[in-house]
Amino acid sequence: MAEPAEVDVRDLVKCFGALRAVDGVSFRVEPGETYGLLGPNGAGKTSIMRILAGLSPPSAGSARVAGLDVATHPRSVRALMGVVTQADGLDTEISVRQNLEVFGDLVGLSRRDARARADEVLAFFALSARADARVDELSGGLRRRLAIARALINRPRVIVLDEPSTGLDPESRVKVWEELAVLKDAGVTILLTTHYMDEAETLCDRIAMLHSGRVLDVATPPELIARHAGGGVAELRLERPDAPARQALRAALDALGARYREVGALFRVAAASGEEPPVPSVAGVRVTRRAANLEDVFLALAGRGLADE
Ligand SMILES: Nc1ncnc2c1ncn2[C@@H]1O[C@H](COP(=O)(O)OP(=O)(O)OP(=O)(O)O)[C@@H](O)[C@H]1O
Ligand SMILES: [Mg+2]
Repeated sequence: MAEPAEVDVRDLVKCFGALRAVDGVSFRVEPGETYGLLGPNGAGKTSIMRILAGLSPPSAGSARVAGLDVATHPRSVRALMGVVTQADGLDTEISVRQNLEVFGDLVGLSRRDARARADEVLAFFALSARADARVDELSGGLRRRLAIARALINRPRVIVLDEPSTGLDPESRVKVWEELAVLKDAGVTILLTTHYMDEAETLCDRIAMLHSGRVLDVATPPELIARHAGGGVAELRLERPDAPARQALRAALDALGARYREVGALFRVAAASGEEPPVPSVAGVRVTRRAANLEDVFLALAGRGLADE
């Protein structure tokens, strides 16, 4: 028999009034896997995370963590899971260490164990020197790392993180990524949401691409790219991007049956798997070719222009 999934979500639905924020989502996260839910604002990522964390009941379907149904075993699930919510939920008026100890108490550790674990996670996240600082004195990056540290207090086997690096500068983001990589090496199963394609590509073994409460596709990053944007991307930039020139380029691309999007000053032309993207011969166009990334996959999957929605 196959090993049971660490996270097993089946036909999950979450309704807010008439809105189906999660509209029949299924996915499995295997033990030790780092799995990403990737999608734009409003795709349903936080709604799924809140159900998994036991903070919000599903409208239909089921979600299991380590074989336990989150709706019927919320306490047991919470005991083996770490949660980092989109808003940190840290107490900003007490110190770093106090935040960890109070949380340890909340998850049922003795005072002594909570102290010991607080020291361990502080050391692990290189936060020991800031242990006595008040949280409101910390930078955004340090706060985010503290929120992740706090979620590790009870040595969870599964950790779910809602947008772990949103709002951080590039260096702090990399620091968070490094810490998540260490957790992965330690065998922790990680489920994270992001709308950063580079974050998903760097961290995740597999990704579920979400849009409007539905899963568009699930695969490893290279598989997604090969499947949906295999032949790379051509970026076309008009030397004189006035309205008639844009219109002429659109017509030429349409005549080739090209799949393309206008993103700012660029026309981004995708390719069907394996083939080169078609490029029309139009005067006054600079063409750059590059390998596809997950952003291109998302644009290909989610339909015409995210900005149009
Ligand atoms: N408590 C709520 N009441 C009503 N609607 C809600 C509630 N929570 C979420 N929604 C709606 O459900 C949809 C999905 O929201 P959700 O927060 O899950 O998206 P998300 O993918 O996490 O987006 P973001 O990237 O902006 O965090 C949105 O349309 C949102 O407005
Ligand atoms: Mg969200």
